[in-house]
Amino acid sequence: MAVYKPLLARHLGSGREPAHWPAPDLPEYCFIGRSNVGKSSLINMLCGIGKLARVSNTPGRTRMVEHFRVEGTLTSRSPWLLADLPGYGFAKASKSDREAWRRMVHTYLLQRENLMCVFLLVDVRLEPQRSDLDMIEWLGGNGVPFVIVFTKADKLSQPKVASHVARYRKTLLHTWETLPTMFLTSSETRQGRDDLLAYIDAVNAQWGR
Ligand code: GTP
Ligand code: MG
Repeated sequence: MAVYKPLLARHLGSGREPAHWPAPDLPEYCFIGRSNVGKSSLINMLCGIGKLARVSNTPGRTRMVEHFRVEGTLTSRSPWLLADLPGYGFAKASKSDREAWRRMVHTYLLQRENLMCVFLLVDVRLEPQRSDLDMIEWLGGNGVPFVIVFTKADKLSQPKVASHVARYRKTLLHTWETLPTMFLTSSETRQGRDDLLAYIDAVNAQWGR
């Protein structure tokens, strides 16, 4: 088992509008996905800091773009930024809430110039959800680079996890010729942490090229 080394990280701020976000002068990654999928938990797990991003039992808690600065990975000291985006697919959200979400998130995804890759989080327990498939289509259609990160792998047996991932791949192959990179994670067992950090390391190396 790999040593669980915390990273140095801090919350930079929360903001709805580009003017309120940190300067885009470092490579940035964002976490997006349905409410309650585990975005904030995964940020805490990746950084090894229990309460960096707020985790709650009330879905729809994160309403702004929350920025964090992380001082390197397990093998590098180059700093990078992480953005926690508000979740979608929250059943109780009003129409105007949904519209505000759409405006803010689309602005972020299309205009954030230092955005290197979107981590789209998907609950591995669920069958492919329309809202996630729509997001994948939107990201692909707009040429925004993304990977899929399955969350909550600890909640299923290993064979179930494997069959759910296979089902997901099959669903995507109905519309896509090539599949995005996929990661399997658990914020409880820290599964996938090393893989995600190694990926971030590799993409960070492309910054400024
Ligand atoms: P919003 O900010 O509301 O969109 O939610 P979120 O996507 O940030 O989810 P959050 O990290 O707040 O987690 C939601 C719930 O799922 C919490 O009760 C977490 O403890 C739980 N959870 C998140 N990730 C995992 C995981 O990998 N395994 C298990 N067992 N529970 C998890
Ligand atoms: Mg959250």
